[in-house]
Amino acid sequence: MMLDCSLVREDFEVIAREGIAYLDNAASTLKPRQVIEAMASFMRESYANVHRGVHRLSVRASMAYETAHEAVAKFIGADSWEEVVFLRNTTEASQLLVETLVTNGVIGEGDEVVLTEAEHHSILLPWLRALKRVGAKPRILPVNDEGVPEWGLLDEYLGKRTKAVVFAHISNVTGYVTNVREVVKKARSVGALVVLDAAQSIPHMPFNVKELGIDFALFSGHKMLGPTGIGVLWGRADLLRELEPPLGGGGSVRDVVLAGVGVRVEWDDPPWRFEAGTPPIIEAVGLAEAVAYLKRLGMGDVARHEKELTTKALAELSSIDEVEVVGPKDPGRRHGIVSFVVRGHNPDAVGVWLDARKIAVRTGKHCAHPLHHRLGLDGTVRASFYIYNCVDDVERLVSAVREYVARYGRG
Ligand code: ALA
Repeated sequence: MMLDCSLVREDFEVIAREGIAYLDNAASTLKPRQVIEAMASFMRESYANVHRGVHRLSVRASMAYETAHEAVAKFIGADSWEEVVFLRNTTEASQLLVETLVTNGVIGEGDEVVLTEAEHHSILLPWLRALKRVGAKPRILPVNDEGVPEWGLLDEYLGKRTKAVVFAHISNVTGYVTNVREVVKKARSVGALVVLDAAQSIPHMPFNVKELGIDFALFSGHKMLGPTGIGVLWGRADLLRELEPPLGGGGSVRDVVLAGVGVRVEWDDPPWRFEAGTPPIIEAVGLAEAVAYLKRLGMGDVARHEKELTTKALAELSSIDEVEVVGPKDPGRRHGIVSFVVRGHNPDAVGVWLDARKIAVRTGKHCAHPLHHRLGLDGTVRASFYIYNCVDDVERLVSAVREYVARYGRG
């Protein structure tokens, strides 16, 4: 069955109330009433801290929190809920992962990690800083003129010291979809771990960690109908069990004994050892509901729907002479995102023009400055699609851009 975007829209009140074409989904998605209600009723009826009390509210909250791990695990094809660590967002998951790997000596002095020039700051900043601190070397795979990583050169970037290959499944700027399995195959040939930034893919397509063969995945709840304040680090159980967390705190340990001037710690099992402090409990309930919502729609249908919108937007925007679309021209190589510039015009000016017509896009460098520098762009206008967007949203976008061009012409 095809996804019925008009029916889906009814669950997102703000769309009709504002008359908005919301095309800023790569930044964050809107929230359906089911997610809002699940969080509200949990707060009304079952809220307490988790794993810290024997009283009924704490037990109920703990069960809901654990069930949310289970729901997310199933959604991404993971073996068990213990592989799902809840953190604040993709950035924090990325940070926690690299800090875990360096703290445990998995990556150390003289080791190498392959990243790409297309990565988002949530990957680049935590990884480059941690690698520098421990004397490890980043090997940055360049992008071509379309902004696509030169995966054909990967062999030259891999070596005996490569410990990890870290990259986005889908670029948040070009929408380019990397062939993960190909990268995994090559990374495995040198024994490197594969870390996938799945922030722009898990919300938009069927996704299975085991089929992809990756070791770690990172993503955010707020980009998939869930609330802000919850993100996920998924890791293979056998790896997580071997690693000590870089952060400690309440809820992450079985026992703590003061030993002279030091402390002896017995860490709890994953995921708890990586979730120090009171975790995002209410947010986890919201994320579980978001996952249930997406499952009801069917991720295959979600992907097909978005592909149709992306293909139309790509074709129509590309047909405007003054518009330059960034990224691959072939819709088969990208998903859900179309970034573009009106030549000679500041992207923010185009964004303000679109907002005046109730069309929400993101403008700027999208937290991927190195990619924009490489492409010689001071920013782009980015339209990104989701389940409540219909063809009329694409038509509104395209005709507003045409009007802009007709009014201001070449810059
Ligand atoms: N990563 C988010 C974006 O691309 C914030 O907009």
